[in-house]
Amino acid sequence: MGRLDGKIALITGTGGGQGRAAAVLFAKEGAKVVGCDLKEAGAAETLKMVHDAGGAMVSMAPIDISTDAGANAWVKDAVAAFGGVDILYNNASFPRIGPFQEASADDWFFTVRNELDIVWFVTRAAWPHLVARGGGSIINTASIAGQRGMMFLPQSAHSATKAGVIGLTLQFAAAGARHHIRANSISPGLIATPATQVYTDDPESAFSRKARENPWGRIGYPEDIAKLALFLASDDSEYINGVDIVVDGGQSIML
Ligand SMILES: NC(=O)c1ccc[n+]([C@@H]2O[C@H](COP(=O)([O-])OP(=O)(O)OC[C@H]3O[C@@H](n4cnc5c(N)ncnc54)[C@H](O)[C@@H]3O)[C@@H](O)[C@H]2O)c1
Repeated sequence: MGRLDGKIALITGTGGGQGRAAAVLFAKEGAKVVGCDLKEAGAAETLKMVHDAGGAMVSMAPIDISTDAGANAWVKDAVAAFGGVDILYNNASFPRIGPFQEASADDWFFTVRNELDIVWFVTRAAWPHLVARGGGSIINTASIAGQRGMMFLPQSAHSATKAGVIGLTLQFAAAGARHHIRANSISPGLIATPATQVYTDDPESAFSRKARENPWGRIGYPEDIAKLALFLASDDSEYINGVDIVVDGGQSIML
């Protein structure tokens, strides 16, 4: 018996990192998974990993789901693939990180589109299908950056969008309750993924130094996040709605 037997899970950004870990784990637990990514090769690799392990998955890549048209196109094909949607995991994001004084207007709008618009458009497209199934679970990826100032790595647009994701989650929960659609967010701490490799490759980067200070004694891994996403996707979390859960080894609450 898998914890997601019979469920159809749409996961964004399955080309690597946390989206890949979730695709592999959700499929292992019996879900039929639909992935997508900008990255064709990474998405294909994830698809192979799931299939080699005997899981059920389809994937669309390359596709940009940060626009109304892109999100609608993916959700339409995704819903058609297995006949509906029970779980929507809004994992994908693409921020531009850096001091806001040095950022351009394009940097700001790029980050807003690829971290906030992407969640709104994809969820809006998937909503009628979740309603039609009689309920479901939405999992949004926020960040501790949406809740704390980051002295070690300036990231104002990213912080703003991730705070926005937490706000969106509350409204999805409010709108969804009467349809038995739950919405919760996950706020990862410092996680080793393709997105952070540019920092983790350099042991002297501010990111690596901060990761070494973690009270749990290690950096986070995509699987740490996937295990929580699995719980939030499954019926085990049926009465959990509208919350944000930090996964960071306790780093952000310790002085
Ligand atoms: N890695 C960390 O330390 C960390 C910390 C806090 C929050 N997060 C969040 O966790 C989530 C996963 O991050 P990750 O570290 O695994 O990143 P990642 O870059 O490894 O994976 C994200 C995937 O999303 C895809 N993607 C981005 N924009 C897309 C678009 N418009 N259309 C289709 N695909 C798109 C990327 O190509 C990539 O494969 C993100 O929401 C990120 O902001 C990460």
